[in-house]
Amino acid sequence: MLHIGRLSFESPLVLAPLAGYTDLPFRLLCRAYGAGYCVSEMISCHGLTYGQKNTLKMVNSIEQEKPVSFQLFGADADIMADAAEILASFHPDMIDINMGCPVKKVTKGGAGAALMTTPKLAERILKKICLRVSLPVTVKIRSGKDSNHITGVEFAQMAENCGVSAIAVHGRTWSQGFSGRSDKKIISDIKEAVTIPVLGNGDIHSYKDAHKLMAETGCDGVMIGRSALGNPWVFSKQGRPAGFAEILSGANKHLQLIEQCLPAEKMVGSIKSQMCNYFKAMPGSSTMRQEILTARNLNELKQKMDAFAPANSALKASTGG
Ligand SMILES: Cc1cc2nc3c(=O)[nH]c(=O)nc-3n(C[C@H](O)[C@H](O)[C@H](O)COP(=O)(O)O)c2cc1C
Repeated sequence: MLHIGRLSFESPLVLAPLAGYTDLPFRLLCRAYGAGYCVSEMISCHGLTYGQKNTLKMVNSIEQEKPVSFQLFGADADIMADAAEILASFHPDMIDINMGCPVKKVTKGGAGAALMTTPKLAERILKKICLRVSLPVTVKIRSGKDSNHITGVEFAQMAENCGVSAIAVHGRTWSQGFSGRSDKKIISDIKEAVTIPVLGNGDIHSYKDAHKLMAETGCDGVMIGRSALGNPWVFSKQGRPAGFAEILSGANKHLQLIEQCLPAEKMVGSIKSQMCNYFKAMPGSSTMRQEILTARNLNELKQKMDAFAPANSALKASTGG
């Protein structure tokens, strides 16, 4: 069991924040398949304080997905504290602060991973937010700026001193982006250096991998990102089902949740690419993906997916967990 502040989670496996993916329907699906909690896409502090329509759509949540964490990004301490207060009014269980995103759009304004190069500013942000909201505040970081500046340990200690309740560590540097491999050593170094829970992150592909990371580094939980796409079963011990029928049923469940929670007809493009993820690495997957991509609307997409069932029900997926 994972504990953060006064909260307890049934599983230590957590859905990592993924911009463009970890919306309410996908979070509900991952919770149903066993994620201890899920983190929203990153939410702009400016979007929240200006009350921007598109930002406010991102703070959509329902009781059924709880516990949930909403992630905030920005680089101005006062605006971040104001935004955290607004975010708290939407009743998430935690607020996560993004100090690890390497994307230029985010770092050019000093936010995300850039904050690891300005620890004094990061400290001001965390202190102000922890003072302003009563919810547990967590922070997601990288190992450092680059291989010559592995500052994750000092940074994590600073965050703990600010009142942060847990730290998620992606074991890559800012300059690595998503290249190379995630370093497990920085996760164990940080775990040894702080008393609050540490979540390891990076290149975890299965439930088994996640438990191995906890055993090897001592981390308290694991965040899984890319391996959950098209594979919400990654949070369960059984892993991805072998049979096509179960995979199709998972994809259909995701589609139904999107229809229930979002204006699905307006997002057919993104739904098609999410559905394609379910059929990756399966025999005949390229034909299925081509079929999905030619759908012109939601009805066509559903018809095409329904049509897969009889032809493919005997197929076995080629990958596990
Ligand atoms: C498409 C995509 C979107 C992401 N969006 C966010 C985000 O909004 N906030 C964040 O802190 N990290 C974000 N990340 C980083 C992931 O949360 C995670 O740290 C990274 O993908 C490594 O974990 P993984 O190997 O399990 O995917 C994103 C990564 C990807 C690939």
